[in-house]
Amino acid sequence: MKVHIHTFGCQMNVNDTETMMGLLEIAGHEMVETPEEADLVIINTCAVRQKAEDKFYGKLGELNRIRRRRHLIVGVAGCIAEKDGKKLLERDDVDFVVGTRAISRVTEAVSKAMKGEKVAILDDHLDELNAHVARRRMSSHHAWVTVIYGCDKFCTYCIVPYTRGREKSRPMEDVLEEVRELARKGYREITFLGQNVDSYGKDLGDGVSLAKLLMEAEKVDGIERLWFLTSYPVDFDEKLVDVIAASKKIARSIHLPVQSGSDEILKKMNRGYTRGEYMDLIHMIRTRIPDASISTDIIVGFPGETEKDFEDTLDLVRKLRFERINLAMYSPRKGTVAAKYYKDDVPRAVKSRRLQTLLELQKRINLEINGRYLGKVVRIIGEDRMKDGRYYGRTIRNKIVIFESKENPVGRFLDIKVERVTPGPLYGRIIWMEGSNQRLEHEPAEELGVHT
Ligand code: SAH
Ligand code: SF4
Ligand code: F3S
Repeated sequence: MKVHIHTFGCQMNVNDTETMMGLLEIAGHEMVETPEEADLVIINTCAVRQKAEDKFYGKLGELNRIRRRRHLIVGVAGCIAEKDGKKLLERDDVDFVVGTRAISRVTEAVSKAMKGEKVAILDDHLDELNAHVARRRMSSHHAWVTVIYGCDKFCTYCIVPYTRGREKSRPMEDVLEEVRELARKGYREITFLGQNVDSYGKDLGDGVSLAKLLMEAEKVDGIERLWFLTSYPVDFDEKLVDVIAASKKIARSIHLPVQSGSDEILKKMNRGYTRGEYMDLIHMIRTRIPDASISTDIIVGFPGETEKDFEDTLDLVRKLRFERINLAMYSPRKGTVAAKYYKDDVPRAVKSRRLQTLLELQKRINLEINGRYLGKVVRIIGEDRMKDGRYYGRTIRNKIVIFESKENPVGRFLDIKVERVTPGPLYGRIIWMEGSNQRLEHEPAEELGVHT
């Protein structure tokens, strides 16, 4: 069968798609780039906000137009599959469903669907996802490695604990085996993934932690840079901070969603920390890792959010000066505590204005922070080619740098002189490229000092 997978949502879904593609290829299926070429399409879905769900139904609609002309099998995986399971199967335009903890069974679902059987596989087969599972990776130098599945935090607004189930860590030896195998294949960068990646190991009871895993992974020859996503403020401890501070390979990029700057709202969100505790944590990190780049997620318009609550969020953002913020308007998710007990009472226009205000504030902060890079030399690893033929890469602080190159720089270290900055990416020219035989003027990359 010719199979196409369309992926929505977070990096975890991207990694799940890679696993499903690997498994399907081994079973003899061929992966294709578009639904038009495919006999079978899987939509890997996200349910975090209504907008994400709407996108899924939009995609189903698109596939229906193909189905009217010819035979096409359609499967649903990911967070909507887990949440709506069997209900989805009642639809005429869905042939099979694979839950978030059952992706290892995707080939079984496909075989049954090929025979005309409507099937939903929703039980937990996570144990089958070990280091040796074939994964068809999107990149040849950077790999996603999911280390902990699920979420136990139950923030009142969030659907993820219901779509990903309880926290379950992979054994550290298994993760390290995957890392070693990746290094053998030439991978240089790895991102460890988890909804709360800093909870890694807590459920194993063998003393394993994210700090330990990073320390061990760093020793693997060939691995040059390690990232991890997403952290949860309560689980982010000093040990982890020390391990990052002492490392030359672990990225200085820490994503720590705060969600709100108001104690009242944080409590209603069940986040488990106060505004003060969060600020103390950021100060502790910045004291021990002066070049830490801290980014966050914020929700505006949570039920009951007053102007005063929003002011508290603005104030927190002004004080902490994040390097990036993912902003979202609150979207009630059926089945969550917030949707059940709190009225979605902030008008859409107010949500939208608050979002805009924060966006503008963050843009100013970004421009100020990025301004410090002007004229400096930064070291990056080349990441990918853009549509317009230019390339981009990232610094160890997760700054995106865009540049032109005649040689393919992907997966190589480069030094770039920054010539233009924006609130988003930096722009510059190559002054040194690892392994290049071109003679380039070489100024050593400067370390960017203390956080602005
Ligand atoms: N585990 C991470 C990420 C969870 S989902 C964390 O703890 O933050 C990614 C982001 O989506 C969240 O950080 C939150 O900002 C946003 N989000 C989750 N549920 C939402 C909802 N119901 N409405 C709006 N944004 C939401
Ligand atoms: Fe959702 Fe909270 Fe879990 Fe993050 S920690 S996935 S926001 S419940
Ligand atoms: Fe979306 Fe599920 Fe990820 S809800 S953000 S795909 S965990």
